[in-house]
Amino acid sequence: RIAAVTGRQIWDSRGRPTVEAEVTLESGAVGRAIAPAGASRGAHEAIDLRDGGAAFGGFGVNSAVAGIGTEIARALAGQDARDQAAVDRLLCDLDGTPNKARLGANAVVAVSMAVLHAAAANARVPLWRYLADGRKIRTPLPEIQIFGGGAHAGRRTDVQDFMVMCPRAGNFRRALEITEEVYRAAGRLMEAKGPLSGVADEGGWWPNFASNEDALDTLTKAIEASGHRAGEDVFISLDIAANELGDAAGYDLALDDRRLSGEEMAARIIEWAGRYPILSIEDPAGQDDWTTMAAVTASIGDRVQIIGDDVLVTNAERVARAGDAAVCNAALIKVNQVGTVTEAKAAIEAAVQRGWGAIVSARSGESEDVTIAHLASGWDAGQLKVGSFTRSERMAKWNEMLRIEEALGSDAEWAGFSAFAGSIG
Ligand code: PGA
Ligand code: ZN
Repeated sequence: RIAAVTGRQIWDSRGRPTVEAEVTLESGAVGRAIAPAGASRGAHEAIDLRDGGAAFGGFGVNSAVAGIGTEIARALAGQDARDQAAVDRLLCDLDGTPNKARLGANAVVAVSMAVLHAAAANARVPLWRYLADGRKIRTPLPEIQIFGGGAHAGRRTDVQDFMVMCPRAGNFRRALEITEEVYRAAGRLMEAKGPLSGVADEGGWWPNFASNEDALDTLTKAIEASGHRAGEDVFISLDIAANELGDAAGYDLALDDRRLSGEEMAARIIEWAGRYPILSIEDPAGQDDWTTMAAVTASIGDRVQIIGDDVLVTNAERVARAGDAAVCNAALIKVNQVGTVTEAKAAIEAAVQRGWGAIVSARSGESEDVTIAHLASGWDAGQLKVGSFTRSERMAKWNEMLRIEEALGSDAEWAGFSAFAGSIG
């Protein structure tokens, strides 16, 4: 049973304030979790509570932290930490808004995940094993960023994430090794083209390209230069994050100096998928432009994973509606988009039920918190997206997955192509 709940303001990977929650059980078991924060957020996401005003650019979380120590602590006192669904229902009811705006999704998600950690600590097993509860699980296929653009890099490219996936790696450890080789090769190629200008929010090389196609060409060359076969061993995965570019009325591609209609946007993305070794594309259209999303999925969804992020916002009900409209064939899962562990689990279950792939994902603002590595493996999501192959808020998650794979030992089954749940051939 829950004895105490406390919160504190700490700092995230962008040097902004964020919320940490700590839950202590009567048994003495302790769970702790840190809220992440997005930069390219969907309008239908749960809302973080920020102090506003002049301090810390308005990003302070004193009010969110205060809610944890008072209202939330009182409501959760004496609750059974093993009943995550009941705890999360209490949190939702206490907040009372449809989007966690009163207590703040940052406060609610930190507490919800801290309760989960406390329950696992109480059971004296690692979180991934507590979640798996004896079921067979796979080590997830990682999606790893090589170039970061869009809202994470001063909009230097229109596309937000240029990533790689290595489904034939055979295991998680090898997938990271291959990615390291591609990452270094990409850095060398960029250096040859001009001065390297550091890394973007999620640790990928800061883009230095004349066009989105230039970035795709360079990434394909980097894969080949690293000694791996593009389109065989290593594939490209893109997060267009098109919500940042526009909506059904038009998409502004700054690098092309052009505004594309939804139809033109779909055609452009379909053309990229035919020209480059692309296996996965996230958010090819804005959150409410389901026509363009569905057009892309209808055209290439049989061979390319089409992921919904801003369009689904980890909301089971939106997954069901988007499924009926065939707008995508995979769901991105970010616990803080919806606010609680239980609601995120419902979204992933709704996706799996449809035969979709599921990708547990970090945010662009992160921390040393490694909960998502445990969720991706313990829930058997099949895929994990964390950002790049630098910066310890990213590496902490990849490294935790190495520990989980090692602990699984001979039971470790690699997700590989099964990560797509048969939704693509
Ligand atoms: P965000 O970006 O965390 O800034 O929203 C991540 C993503 O779009 O997947
Ligand atoms: Zn995204």
